This record gives sequence, C-alpha cells and structure tokens, in this order.
Amino acid sequence: MNFDRHRRMRRTAYMRDMVRETKVGKEDLIYPIFVVEADDVRKEVPSMKGVFQVSLNLLEKELAEVNDLGIKSVIFFGIPNEKDPEGTGAYHDHGVVQEACRLSKKHYPEILVILDTCLCEYTDHGHCGLIDSKTQDVDNDLTLPLLVRTAVSQAKAGADIIAPSNMMDGFVSEIRKGLDDNGFRHIPIMSYGIKYSSKFYGPFRDAAESTPSFGDRRTYQMDPANRLEAQRELESDLAEGCDMMIVKPALSYLDIIRDVRNNSNVPVIAYNVSGEYSMTRTAVDMGLLDEAVIMEQMVSMKRAGADMIITYFAKDICRMIDEGME
Ligand code: PBG
Repeated sequence: MNFDRHRRMRRTAYMRDMVRETKVGKEDLIYPIFVVEADDVRKEVPSMKGVFQVSLNLLEKELAEVNDLGIKSVIFFGIPNEKDPEGTGAYHDHGVVQEACRLSKKHYPEILVILDTCLCEYTDHGHCGLIDSKTQDVDNDLTLPLLVRTAVSQAKAGADIIAPSNMMDGFVSEIRKGLDDNGFRHIPIMSYGIKYSSKFYGPFRDAAESTPSFGDRRTYQMDPANRLEAQRELESDLAEGCDMMIVKPALSYLDIIRDVRNNSNVPVIAYNVSGEYSMTRTAVDMGLLDEAVIMEQMVSMKRAGADMIITYFAKDICRMIDEGME
C-alpha cells in the first residue's frame, strides 16, 4: 500500500501536534461581557444560552471566573439604566462601561480591557448615532463628536484598546485625533471597519437591548454581497490610522478575513458574533453536533488569517484546552 508523507506525519498525536499549522490558544480569545448598570442582575440572555447580563455589583465575581480560566482580554458592552435620543450614557464619565472598566482594572489589572465605542446601546431609538429628523437616518457628521467624547471617556476610565464600531465615515481619524489631543496617544484603535449589515447580530441586540425601533443599519453597515467594498473600507481605515482591524461576522465571511490578512499588515480580529454562537450552541446542546465543532470553528477563523477571535465561546474553549482537546 502506498504510505505517503502525509500519512506518516499523521500517525501519532505528538506528530500531528508538531506539524499542525494552526493553533488556538487562550491568548487568542477576547470574551464579550454585557454589563448592566442596575444592581443584582445575573440574567441569562434568552437567545444566547450560557451568556449572561451581569450587573456592575456582580462583575467582580464574573471577572474572577474569567481570570481563573485564563482568559486574557475582555470587551464590555453596556446596558444603561436610561436611554435617550443622544445616547448620553455612552460618553458619561461614570457610564456603565466606564465603571466596568475601572472595576476590572482595580481587581484584575492584568486583564486587557477593550471598550466598544458606539451609541446604539445608549440611544432610545437603538441606532448607532444621532437621527436626522428629516431623513430619519443617522447623521454622520453630528455623530462623530459624540463618538470622540465616548472614546475619550473610555480611555480616561483606563481602557487598553478603543474599538469604534458604528461605521460612520471618518470615525477612525476623528477618534485618533480626539485621543491624541487628550493625552491618549498610546491607546490603540481596533476598528470594526469591516462590519456587514447582518442578521447574525439578532441575539446580540436582545442581549444589549439595542434593536433599532425603526429602520435598519443598512445605510452605515456593509452589504453582505460585497467583497471589494471591504477592501475599500480596509484602505480608508488604515489611512485614517487604525491599528487593528475587526471583520464581523466571521464564519460566513472567512474569505474577507483572508483578504484582510493578505492585504494589510495589521492584526486581524474575527468577531464570532452572537448568531454564530447561538446556532452552534443550540446544535451542540441538542446533541446534533459534537462539542468539538466549537474548536473546529475557532481553527477555521485562525486558518483564514485571524490573529484573535472575539467569541462568546471563550470560557468553553478555555475548558476544552484545559481538558486537552485538539
Ligand atoms: C454595535 C455592536 C453590535 C455588535 C457588536 N457591536 C451590534 C450591531 O451592529 O447591531 C454585534 C455583535 C454580535 O452580534 O455578537 N455596538
């Protein structure tokens, strides 16, 4: 029988490990946490089994678990007590994510904190910026200064990385300038510059209570059918000074991750979004698929070119790594 080179190298677990091209480690993972401003909340998100909204006063416990599992980075999303048309909770110096960040830095200074810079969780209409009453669409230029205020207040609270996610034109350069002018030249920007207008965000909008009350986000997020447009978004964000690039969603967009990897030299982050999480979680929980598919999905994102992965599976993956799953 023909015993070729590939089969020779697959013979033992040690050899398979040695020649494995793509590895997933705890340091690759960024864990999203939904933080509630109100007290004493630890509520499972109905559409995301295993994911909880956690109130500020219970956050320390959550971070203890994260830290014990070996997760090294988190991204906080906030659920404020009150929302208004201008999303003032986003740029309040004592807003919910600003306080979550302070608390995290106080108890676990070694955990890296990324803050999402957007208004949608703080506006009563659920859009990512100010609404122009004539067009009923987001006003790009009036929104920019509010994003800058948000980013600066997040940096003041101790955020290690600012992740602007609302896709306004010029948002990276404005935020860069705002950070620089306020003494935060050292804080990197991880841009959600390639963000598709996707139905895979559905469960997140439940979790963050940020579903738009009218219209949709198609004027500021990208058409899933477009690949060259991602190239243009990448080029403009890089020219504006972004330090790292997020592609979102991830699994239906692996070609885009590969394009960004091949056409830039910045770190690429795959956002394994809420809908992707819930689909896999449900299939695994129902016994339709083996839990190992979770790792296979992580490997596929890294193989496509991602350096890091934002994923609600971070805790599960840490456990699997501890149990020695390949
Ligand atoms: C916007 C934001 C969204 C997600 C992350 N940041 C929602 C949106 O664009 O509607 C979605 C992430 C997910 O689905 O897991 N602040």
